[in-house]
Amino acid sequence: MAIEKVGVVGCGLMGSGIAQIAAAAGCQVTVREVNAVVLEQGLQSIDKNLQRLVDKGTLSAGDRDQIRGRLHGTTNLEDLKDCDLIIDAIIEQLAAKREVWTALDKICPKHTIFASNTSSLSITEMATFTQRPDRFLGLHFFNPVPVMKLIEVIRTIATDKKVEEDAVAFAHRVGKTPVRTTDRTGFIVNRLLVPFLLDAIRALEEGVGSIEDIDNSMKLGCGHPMGPLTLLDFVGNDTTYYIANIMFDEFKEKRFAPPPLLKRMVLMGWNGRKAGKGFYDYSDPAKPKPISLA
Ligand code: 3HC
Repeated sequence: MAIEKVGVVGCGLMGSGIAQIAAAAGCQVTVREVNAVVLEQGLQSIDKNLQRLVDKGTLSAGDRDQIRGRLHGTTNLEDLKDCDLIIDAIIEQLAAKREVWTALDKICPKHTIFASNTSSLSITEMATFTQRPDRFLGLHFFNPVPVMKLIEVIRTIATDKKVEEDAVAFAHRVGKTPVRTTDRTGFIVNRLLVPFLLDAIRALEEGVGSIEDIDNSMKLGCGHPMGPLTLLDFVGNDTTYYIANIMFDEFKEKRFAPPPLLKRMVLMGWNGRKAGKGFYDYSDPAKPKPISLA
């Protein structure tokens, strides 16, 4: 099945990126937010991203206008009724996901594929909110969506093979490399990444090295684009804490247990770059300074 019309629920950091790349790939995209203010913020961030590409000379002004012309914002879920594929990128709360998927299941025709961008919730559980578990799967994108090349395509035990193939074709169409995986919490990337990030915090707690030295070790010693503590700030300490707790709950393995320091930083609201403070202080965003820990 050719996917031409795409719906995106949520126009935050991930949803806006997903909407942008789908429109850039030639799809008609309708993106839905809960109110006009949040929707406008999301659309403005897409405009800013597209303008940056125009300024760099990698996108023509004409192409930018065409991409923008394929992007439609709405606050009404009903406007997603004609979509071939709908991707949810809303808050990671099962109750909120249930509300959206139950409503969309009633609104959308039988052929519409439902996909969640969740990083930690069960795709299988979300599929049970609908009458189409065979047309439900996960499409997990990475931040920043326009830059990161990967999409995890997550099938459940009920996902139709053809639906998985359509999702893989869609991932190629938006210029990404798909990897196939099954519905186990964390999928492939977070299963490997989260214990690594948590271990970096444990190393800091145990005095193995300073914030900068731990980051530089992995950047310069292993060629990672960001050190683990910088990446934690980038992803959001609250987000990693939330994912780690869900993974620990699922597997009951120590490597997924959030270290005490992470919990305390989240309690303080030191959630990373978006909060202005995490393992680094972003008072001057161009020159983040490592925080001192008592
Ligand atoms: N949106 C769009 N483009 C962006 C961007 C953004 N938010 N941030 C950076 N870019 C673009 C820049 O414009 C630049 O493009 P160019 O090469 O065409 O000029 C390119 O990305 C490189 O950016 P910079 O030169 O400014 O900075 P860096 O070279 O340091 O790259 C980075 C920035 C791409 C974020 C890089 O540091 C990186 O890859 N970091 C790791 C990110 C990562 O691991 N993401 C996954 C997080 S885990 C996740 O999302 C899963 C979830 O479940 C938790």
